[in-house]
Amino acid sequence: MERRRLIKVPASSANLGPGFDAFAVALALFIELEVTETGSFAIETDLGITRDRSNLVVAGFERLHPADDFSFRISSEIPLSGGLGSSAAAYLAGLIAADHLFELDADLLALAGELDGHPDNVAAALNGGFVVTTGGEVTRFDPPDGLEAVLVVPHEAVATREARAALPDQVPLADAVFNVAHGALLMLGLARGDFELISRGLDDRLHQTYRGPLYPRSDDLIARAEEFGALGATLSGAGPTVLVWTTLETTGGVVEALTAEVADWAEVSRVRFETDGADVSEL
Ligand code: HSE
Repeated sequence: MERRRLIKVPASSANLGPGFDAFAVALALFIELEVTETGSFAIETDLGITRDRSNLVVAGFERLHPADDFSFRISSEIPLSGGLGSSAAAYLAGLIAADHLFELDADLLALAGELDGHPDNVAAALNGGFVVTTGGEVTRFDPPDGLEAVLVVPHEAVATREARAALPDQVPLADAVFNVAHGALLMLGLARGDFELISRGLDDRLHQTYRGPLYPRSDDLIARAEEFGALGATLSGAGPTVLVWTTLETTGGVVEALTAEVADWAEVSRVRFETDGADVSEL
């Protein structure tokens, strides 16, 4: 009988303002992969992605086992325009499929981190919830009750490579101190479910400052988030997507205000913080 696995991996938003390369959260938008041992290699998908061995899902799979005898059916709700961890989710989906099929018990965090280069996205997608990553270690916790989010996804993509190239090698000490203080406020706010602290903790000077000129409309929205009724907003990963932070009471109004504001250049949607990480089942 053909062996088959179904893998579901969530999107993620990294950095969360002050936590450059260290903080991230999983979001309830998923890539789904069905892998079947058919005896020949094939990729089935409606997405605008490559259909050969360079496909990220297949590259993840082949990191652990050749893909010659497998067919890969890939669907995804994760926008590809940048900032929502779509590549981390894709690599993980392939790795998890091979790991489960061949009972390898591989170090998925390390392998996906190596392939994708963004361990923050990988940690959130693998574990779900909010994560803090320090090298190889991940600390995870659940989102506080009543905290919600809205995504502003620009139509125009920006490559993460380009957004990393915009960063300096060194930053002023005062900016590093600013981020330590704001990162601590944000974590304390999330742990206590204190929305005022969360709002105060969303500022950043380590990456958003430098990346802003690459996507001035996202940058402007982040600066003005409170005008729309939000707690604040952060550049999602390397952008250009913006994660807008809201509460149960304010999300509806924020969606309405933002939809009117960005109608000609971006999509606005509510998104749930996802508590569960990547999942695999045998079909
Ligand atoms: N922390 C990474 C960055 C995330 O900001 O470049 C990339 O998704």
